[in-house]
Amino acid sequence: MITRTRRLRKNETLRRLVRETRLSPDSIIYPLFIREGMGVEEALQSLLGQIRYSPDTVVKGVEAALDAGIRSFLLFGIPNTKDEAGTGAYDDNGVVQQALREIKAAFGSDVYLITDVCLCEYTSHGHCGLIKDEKVHNDSTLPLLVKTAISHIQAGCDMVAPSGMMDGTVASIREGMDAWGFVETPIMSYAAKFASAFYGPFRDAAGSVPQFGDRKTYQMDYHNAREALNRIKVDIDEGADIIIVKPALSYLDIVSEAQKQVSVPVAAYNVSGEYAMIKTAASLGLIDEYSAMCESAASIFRAGADILITYFAKELAMAIKRGDLG
Ligand code: PBG
Repeated sequence: MITRTRRLRKNETLRRLVRETRLSPDSIIYPLFIREGMGVEEALQSLLGQIRYSPDTVVKGVEAALDAGIRSFLLFGIPNTKDEAGTGAYDDNGVVQQALREIKAAFGSDVYLITDVCLCEYTSHGHCGLIKDEKVHNDSTLPLLVKTAISHIQAGCDMVAPSGMMDGTVASIREGMDAWGFVETPIMSYAAKFASAFYGPFRDAAGSVPQFGDRKTYQMDYHNAREALNRIKVDIDEGADIIIVKPALSYLDIVSEAQKQVSVPVAAYNVSGEYAMIKTAASLGLIDEYSAMCESAASIFRAGADILITYFAKELAMAIKRGDLG
């Protein structure tokens, strides 16, 4: 006696025929780090295989990803100078704004550019909002996030991704963008963003380690799932077009529930620490990097993600092309 599962495992063609989860490079977003300067291509020690570009060289990074089949990008900026109010975020000549112009000049509508809208990379204290009485002040931060989003759109971004977890961000940005006539620009909101230890390598890469305290007063508690789903629904009510669950692998239950409960596309952000774990374990010879990468990406889509944001974007696109995945 053999089971149906066994019968359907017979050979590779059949195994591929009956796959439930299909992956495509079209559903993958590649994060890029841009710092100020010219001719910079810095290998990131904390994110092996990732590069910090300057606005002129980022075009090379985009080209390499396009060659692999990736067309959507999420841009993060690292300014030279930071201040209390994070002015670099909404400077029309800021590092992300410059990069947007360069990339759009080179590739136009062949690329889809999404920008991280947050102050933490630009503030001297490393928090995502303005500080008042040693606390992050929600409401006075909102106009600055609106300014940042508008300035990104004017420089060429196609979609904004507010990631600071300030309450009312999506409503404020939507209202601001509409007032400026940017009614067609979508918002991909980091709606369920957990206070996570897995952001460590990113904070090192982006120089955004909080100088005091932590982000637990505005990011979510990892014990809570229903709260996360409520937060997702609030963002959708405020106008989010796509929602993000972040990190991905320790939060697949949230991805899965969100997929069932809401009707907008669900993105999952496979964050820096999750990437670093695979890279480091592989470099120690403990696991096979390629297989672990494929397995974890498939698990995120299997859980119900429509979109995956990952530092493995190029490698995954190639694995899909090769037929190892998807
Ligand atoms: C905030 C932001 C963070 C990440 C993306 N956007 C960091 C944070 O909240 O500290 C983390 C991404 C990653 O770890 O890969 N601007």
